[in-house]
Amino acid sequence: MKKINILTWLALLMAMFGTANTSVAQPGFQGPQSCTECHELESKAWQGTHHFTSFKKFHKSKDAKKIAKAMGIKRIKKDQTCVQCHYTVMPNKKGKIKPVAGTSCESCHGASEKWIKVHSDYGGKKVKKAQETAAHKSQRILESIAGGMIRPDDIYNLARNCFQCHTVPHEKLVEVGGHKAGSEFELVTWSQGEVRHTFVAGSNKAASVERKRVLYLAGRILDLEYGLRGMAEVTANNKYSAAMSKRSKQALVYVQEISDVIKAPALAEILSLGKGVKIEANNKANLLKAAEAISDKAQAYLKTQDGSALAALDGLIPAKAKGTAVE
Ligand code: HEC
Ligand code: HEC
Ligand code: HEC
Ligand code: HEC
Repeated sequence: MKKINILTWLALLMAMFGTANTSVAQPGFQGPQSCTECHELESKAWQGTHHFTSFKKFHKSKDAKKIAKAMGIKRIKKDQTCVQCHYTVMPNKKGKIKPVAGTSCESCHGASEKWIKVHSDYGGKKVKKAQETAAHKSQRILESIAGGMIRPDDIYNLARNCFQCHTVPHEKLVEVGGHKAGSEFELVTWSQGEVRHTFVAGSNKAASVERKRVLYLAGRILDLEYGLRGMAEVTANNKYSAAMSKRSKQALVYVQEISDVIKAPALAEILSLGKGVKIEANNKANLLKAAEAISDKAQAYLKTQDGSALAALDGLIPAKAKGTAVE
C-alpha cells in the first residue's frame, strides 16, 4: 500500500495554491497533547530534544530571520515552507491554523486521527495488556497500520520521515534562502542520542546490537533514496545540486560497503539501481523511478531481517550518538 505522507500532501497543496503565505493544517494531526496523557515518559524524553526546544526560540533566531528575509517571508510561523519541517500546526478554537509545537510525535509516527483509539485498546475498557488475545492483538496492529500509524517495527517507513526533513530537499530554500542543504545524517548516531525513547520495553534502553544493524542498513539505503529524490528536484547546477549529488554518491559508497560484506541479492539490486541512474540536473523522472524502486526493494528485504544475520555490519556502525538520551 502506498501512503501519501504529510510532506507530499503539503507539496501537492502548494502546487495547487502557489507558495501560500498562511500555513495549512496537517491532515489528521491530533497534536502532541493527545499523546502525553498516556505516554508521559516518551513525552518527557521528547521535551529534551531540539525538536521540542526549538519551538520557543526558532522564529526569533537571527539565522532563521536571515533565511526568511532572503526568501521574502514575513512571518516564519505562518510560512508553509518553514512550517512543514519546523512546526506542528493545529487549528485553534476559532479554526485558525497555529503552530503548537516543533517537530512532534505525529511528525514521525503518522497523523493519528484514525489510529489513536485503536492502537492502545486491548479489547475493551477493562481488558489489560496481559489479557489481550493473540487474535485481538494482530487485529489491533493491522487496524493501526491501516489507520496510518507508523509503528516502531517498520523502521524504514518510520525513519523515512527523518530523511524527508533532514536532507532538506528544497532547491529554492537552499539557493535563495541560504538554508543548509541537509546534514550528514546517519540513523544510528542520530536516533540513539537525544531522540531515543524505548520505554514500552521497560526503560529507555539503547537499541540492541541486532536493532542497530537494521537501523544502520535502513539509514544508509534511505540516504541513497533521499539523495536521489533531492537530486530529482535539481533544475540547474548550483550549491543545492552539488549537495544532493554528493549525498547520493556518498550513499552509494556506503551501500557498496554494505553489499561487500552482506551477500544478499536485494542489496546488489539496490546498488545497481543507484548506479544505473544518472545523478544529474533535469533528470527527475528517472531519478524518482530509481528512488521508488530502491524503496520497494529495501522494504521487502528489511521485512525478512531482524538483524541476527547482519553481524558483518558491526564494524561499519558508528558508536557516536547525537545528544544525550534521558535515563
Ligand atoms: C489512551 C492511551 C494512549 C494514547 C492517548 C496514546 N497511546 Fe500510544 N500506546 C498506548 C499503549 C497502552 C501502548 C502499548 C500498546 C501495546 O501494548 O502494544 C501504546 C503504544 C504506542 C506505540 C508503540 C507501538 C508498538 O507497537 O511498539 C507508539 C509508537 C505510540 N503508542 C504512539 C502514540 C502517539 C504518537 C500518540 C498520540 C498521537 C499515542 N500513542 C497516544 C496508549 C496510548
Ligand atoms: C525540508 C525541511 C525543512 C524546511 C522546509 C525548512 N527547514 Fe530549516 N532546518 C531543517 C532541518 C532538518 C534543520 C536541522 C539541520 C540539521 O539537520 O542539523 C534545519 C535547521 C534550520 C536552521 C538552523 C538551526 C536553528 O534552529 O537555528 C535555521 C535557521 C532554519 N532551519 C531556518 C529555516 C527557515 C527560516 C525555513 C523557512 C524559510 C526553513 N528552515 C525551512 C529542515 C527544514
Ligand atoms: C518534520 C521534520 C523533522 C523530522 C520528521 C525529523 N526531524 Fe530531526 N530535526 C528537525 C529540525 C527542524 C531540527 C532542528 C531543530 C532546531 O534546533 O531548530 C531537527 C533536529 C534534530 C536533532 C538535533 C540536531 C542537533 O543539532 O543536535 C536530532 C538528533 C534529530 N533531529 C534527529 C532526528 C531523527 C533521528 C529523526 C527521525 C527518527 C528526525 N530527526 C526526524 C526536523 C525533523
Ligand atoms: C523524531 C521522530 C520521533 C518523534 C518526534 C517521536 N518519536 Fe516515538 N519513536 C521514534 C522512533 C524512531 C522509535 C523507535 C525507537 C526504537 O525502538 O528504536 C519510536 C518509538 C516510540 C514508541 C515505542 C517505544 C517506547 O517504548 O517508547 C512510543 C510509545 C513512541 N515512540 C511514542 C512517541 C510519543 C508519544 C511521542 C511524542 C511525545 C514521540 N514518540 C515522538 C521516533 C519519534
